[in-house]
Amino acid sequence: MMKKIAVLGSGTMGHGIAESFAMYGYEVNLYDTDASRLESAKSEIKAELELLAEEDFITAQAIPGILDNVHLCTDLKETVADRDFVIEAVPEILELKQNLFKQLDELCPEHTVLASNTSSLKLDLMMALVSEKRRQRMMVCHWYNPGHLMPIVELSCFGNMPAEIYEEVAQMFAAIKKQTVKVLKDVPGLVANRIQQGVAREVFSIIEQGIAAPEDVDKALKFGPAFRYATTGQLEVADFGGIDIWCIVGDNLLKVIDNSQCANPLLRKKMEEGKLGIKSGEGFYQYPEAEIPAIKKQFMKKLIHQLKASDYYVS
Ligand SMILES: NC(=O)c1ccc[n+]([C@@H]2O[C@H](COP(=O)([O-])OP(=O)(O)OC[C@H]3O[C@@H](n4cnc5c(N)ncnc54)[C@H](O)[C@@H]3O)[C@@H](O)[C@H]2O)c1
Repeated sequence: MMKKIAVLGSGTMGHGIAESFAMYGYEVNLYDTDASRLESAKSEIKAELELLAEEDFITAQAIPGILDNVHLCTDLKETVADRDFVIEAVPEILELKQNLFKQLDELCPEHTVLASNTSSLKLDLMMALVSEKRRQRMMVCHWYNPGHLMPIVELSCFGNMPAEIYEEVAQMFAAIKKQTVKVLKDVPGLVANRIQQGVAREVFSIIEQGIAAPEDVDKALKFGPAFRYATTGQLEVADFGGIDIWCIVGDNLLKVIDNSQCANPLLRKKMEEGKLGIKSGEGFYQYPEAEIPAIKKQFMKKLIHQLKASDYYVS
């Protein structure tokens, strides 16, 4: 049974991954090469737990115990020496991940499963420098941001991993209330990001063509397809609507919607103008500096409400 966890990298994703395991009683060693980043990770985890308590997702009394489950580490050897499951969330640079996995192969016990939270790198390439034996215990476990709130984790079920090890990992994720998606082929973007990019491509194209204002495009998504998607997947929607209808509408619409092979020029233009979204104060919308903390808090609160509601519609 997997009980002892290590998370490597304590940035945007790493701190949320550590928090998720700690919330469900797992002992987590959280490691980063930047000691100051580690300290702020612990403060972020505390603030996020406080919001979860404010929204009655956990009790305030549980917070000290959860924080005690997260041990900050600056020595890699000590971080992983007795761990069952080690997941890396270091920057998306192939050589960095390859070298880290090589070190982990040498430092971890034989039984340790090594995982990557990569968004775009192939498992095959990341395993290049590890032993044949360890390859049977290496996988992609792709989380969504914010890691402590988004229920999905995509798990690679390809490569060299035997079925029983996959099942052990999947059970561990079930124990921390994550919904696992079994991905059968080593393709870029796995499943969720491929779907998301398909939607995003058309959304940006609609804005570029001036078909509707940003508020209306987001409204169309939130109260149209996405409203249903939270409870009913695309394939269920197709079955409910009728495969014949989906076939006719597909023939009519697919030839007129965006099929470009790179990011929309609108995004590139905004990037060049320094309009990067909330982090620069403007993207498709304006974010006055004084309002940013409240806007971010509201974003988190909506996800917490969604997470609570999802208890009712998990199949
Ligand atoms: N940000 C997202 O929305 C998101 C979502 C899913 C997956 N991912 C993937 O997760 C990984 C991490 O992304 P992020 O956004 O959390 O990055 P980040 O830059 O916020 O955090 C990376 C952390 O790794 C630390 N680090 C750098 N080198 C290290 C090393 N050798 N050992 C240990 N720590 C080291 C850095 O100090 C930093 O704290 C990437 O592979 C990314 O593609 C990101």
